[in-house]
Amino acid sequence: MKTFNVAIVGLGTVGSGVYKILKQKASLLAHRAGVRIRLVAACDNDAKKRRALNLSRSIAVRDLRQVVNDPKIDCIVELIGGKGIAKKLILDAFKNGKDVVTANKALLAECGKEVFAAAKRSDRQIYFEASVGGGIPVIKSLRESLVSNDISSILSIINGTANYILTRMSIDKMDFKQALKLAQHKGYAEADPSFDIEGIDSAHKITILSEIAFGKSVSLKEVYCQGITHIDEADIEFADEVGYVIKLLAIAKQTKGGIEIRVQPTLLPKDHILASVNGSFNAIYLHGDETGDMLLYGRGAGSRPTASAVVSDIIDLAKVRCANAPLLPYPAFAPISAKKLVDIESRYYLRFSVIDKPGVLSQISSLLGKQGISISDVMQRERKAGRVVPLIVLTHEAYEKNLRAAIKQIDRLKCIKKRTQVLRIEE
Ligand SMILES: NC(=O)c1ccc[n+]([C@@H]2O[C@H](COP(=O)([O-])OP(=O)(O)OC[C@H]3O[C@@H](n4cnc5c(N)ncnc54)[C@H](OP(=O)(O)O)[C@@H]3O)[C@@H](O)[C@H]2O)c1
Repeated sequence: MKTFNVAIVGLGTVGSGVYKILKQKASLLAHRAGVRIRLVAACDNDAKKRRALNLSRSIAVRDLRQVVNDPKIDCIVELIGGKGIAKKLILDAFKNGKDVVTANKALLAECGKEVFAAAKRSDRQIYFEASVGGGIPVIKSLRESLVSNDISSILSIINGTANYILTRMSIDKMDFKQALKLAQHKGYAEADPSFDIEGIDSAHKITILSEIAFGKSVSLKEVYCQGITHIDEADIEFADEVGYVIKLLAIAKQTKGGIEIRVQPTLLPKDHILASVNGSFNAIYLHGDETGDMLLYGRGAGSRPTASAVVSDIIDLAKVRCANAPLLPYPAFAPISAKKLVDIESRYYLRFSVIDKPGVLSQISSLLGKQGISISDVMQRERKAGRVVPLIVLTHEAYEKNLRAAIKQIDRLKCIKKRTQVLRIEE
């Protein structure tokens, strides 16, 4: 049996999982792949991480230069993250004739074009299943299993931290701060959770997904990105009363006006298939012209689920290099501009903070009406004459530019006491 020599760089959450799977399932993997995967180096600059895995002296490495320059290594598994050292490591690996497996969504979303071009120049490959959806095989599904499909839309919940927080707010009636604290306590959120709660992590992932699904590459800067920090428990409650849940959705759609790509907290009807994706779970809901609707669901992060995706990439590369399996073509990276947010049509949830007095609703509906926006539902539960109360309005389909113009005028009214909360509704 041929042997494929692998080095892991970065032995943190994901790297340690990859090490354990390769060690514990070596003979099963060799049997299934028809190639033996030999771990020749496990590198981390943190001695504690190396010690925790009880690495043998022959494979433990502190300095990644030792790995990148070792001629016997066929494939480097980059699991340090970030865009600095990780990028240099990957580019050097290509130059030295090595393939790469990575889970690094930030790097691929921001520098994917450059990284894939470098791989092509060196006639090497970079596989990246774990960069989106952790253990969910979404990249492979899009590149291989769904190859005969034109994918027209992707609606996804691809950040477990944000989904966990929104779930706790919804089911346990926690406020945002309490839910975030619990997520951190349970290990679902980092000490600095900003990438997750600001939607940036989801933006990285939907950029990669749209490139693979549509064969067109939207610059990360063009992905509209709104996080969940401004979601109030009142919004969750009101949404619930009118039959919706709030989810942080990463959306990519091919439309006549171009690619619509955005990350936003969104109201989903309770019977929508993504509405029951709770806790730290992820799901990607696709529409293919041949398959119709399809849902991929599972663990979007964590040591072993993410490592499962990394190991699958290692095996695929081993089969290419040692068993003449066909190579996958490089992603196209054909640049395309994203459809402007103002040109997007949607239904809206609006929460106005108004003085409770007669005539307020008619002022608001008249300004909405002037922009051609019609109302589908109104809710005002509390009655506190003369005090500030929430007034909830759901609209029919409207263009974002019209909605923005209306809200700008409404927020100037004397009866409006706070900036209006605007959320989109996806049916
Ligand atoms: N965690 C997940 O569930 C998950 C899911 C999907 C994708 N990913 C992606 O997977 C990658 C790794 O994530 P992770 O959560 O495993 O990160 P992590 O736990 O922080 O592990 C990274 C490890 O790399 C080490 N490292 C950093 N710079 C190094 C260098 N120059 N040389 C050698 N070792 C170095 C770090 O050591 P120090 O701590 O000393 O810096 C750390 O032990 C990231 O790209 C992440 O976005 C993670």
